[in-house]
Amino acid sequence: MNPPTPLFPRHRFPPGFVWGVAPSAFQIEGAAEADGKGPSIWDDFCRRPGAIADGSDGRVACDHFHRWREDLDLIAMQGVDAYRFSMSWPRVQPLGSGAFNAAGLGFYERLVDGLLQRGVKPYLTLNHWDLPSALQAGGGWATRDTVHRFVDYAAEVGRHLGDRIAAITTHNEPWVIATLGHEQGVFAPGVKHRATAMQVAHHLLLSHGLALQALRAQGTRSRLGIVLNLSPIGPATDSEADRAAARLEDGRSVRWYMDPLFLGRYPQDVWQHLGADAPQLQTGDLEAIATPMDFLGINYYTRAVVSASGPFDVRSSGKRITEMGWEVHPEGLTELLTRLHRDWPLPPLYVKENGAAFQDQLVGGRVHDVERTDYIAAHIAAVGEALARGVPMAGYMVWSLLDNFEWASGYAKRFGIVHVDYASQKRTPKDSALWYRDFLAYRRERIAEPAGTPA
Ligand code: FCB
Repeated sequence: MNPPTPLFPRHRFPPGFVWGVAPSAFQIEGAAEADGKGPSIWDDFCRRPGAIADGSDGRVACDHFHRWREDLDLIAMQGVDAYRFSMSWPRVQPLGSGAFNAAGLGFYERLVDGLLQRGVKPYLTLNHWDLPSALQAGGGWATRDTVHRFVDYAAEVGRHLGDRIAAITTHNEPWVIATLGHEQGVFAPGVKHRATAMQVAHHLLLSHGLALQALRAQGTRSRLGIVLNLSPIGPATDSEADRAAARLEDGRSVRWYMDPLFLGRYPQDVWQHLGADAPQLQTGDLEAIATPMDFLGINYYTRAVVSASGPFDVRSSGKRITEMGWEVHPEGLTELLTRLHRDWPLPPLYVKENGAAFQDQLVGGRVHDVERTDYIAAHIAAVGEALARGVPMAGYMVWSLLDNFEWASGYAKRFGIVHVDYASQKRTPKDSALWYRDFLAYRRERIAEPAGTPA
């Protein structure tokens, strides 16, 4: 077989390195009220005038709830080792407390069994943002009660699926839930209050640690961890003001999560900066948060450049910019991974999301998404570079399998390696999907070769 380009001649990925693709429940499932599903805060947020750029919602999305078999076949055709998906909490427990919904759990059991039948490892995320609305009505993540509700939910899922899931992630991107959802108010539940956001972040971390303990107490065979969105954060200039602003931003978005998870404490400089907005802690919280993990997941899209005088214009960098307005900066991924390895005692690391939105054209049944293919190839090479520098990388997953509901941006931003025509729900693998498939097939062929052959 002809090797796909680029060949990554310098980069060796160890056998056992996990290659995957990822979407999330709210972004693809649709079936917003099917089989007893309760509403989530994202169902509610979509109804707010002006909240979603194109006025759309997740009621149908990719209709994955009804088309999951076809989608699993697409995943299997990709030749990936793993499929990272999330469970909709209100689908399996409509009110977020009390009765569980057998029909909702049944959907995920069929999905997991379907993956296993196709030789794909299920990687489950418990919370990819769609909190049951009933819990939000009681204060949501700002209240300590939600921490305990989440632990109950995690334990119930563990009882049903813990024997079949390769890895369980508690939360996807707690920074996004706290900061975009509760400080900037641009994501559900649309709150704009910094003290609330910091309490939310603390409760997310606490519920993560306690859920790990509950799952371990069951003797789960799944590997357990969390997924953080992290970027290397640098100053726009060498000025003292820009450097201080970058250090604070690094504190708020990277160290605020990494320090408690791996060192059992919050960063002092940020705590002081927050003043009265710092969260309320109870005895034992920090120990619970630092419960050892089996893996850490990282979502990486771009680097961050911080200026004390206001938002930095990424277009001044001269680099390619995606449809999200994000600078393409694969070196930033190597820099980030190397820094994490240097500054914290880490378990094996996975890139759990990486990808890009570009303007795709479906012409004659093909999407020639050269920019996305280049983006993915360059970031895989960046992971290879981190491996070469000794970072314990264990896997890489593309965001996303399908074009989907991109939160406040609606459907206009397409991240899929598979194109979705929303009118017909027809799926068409883009060139990037074909490239990723060939890359994985080529690697598999090389790994199968006798030892001693150059990788
Ligand atoms: C991440 C989210 C994911 C997707 C990508 C583009 O922050 O986890 O759901 O929206 O961004």
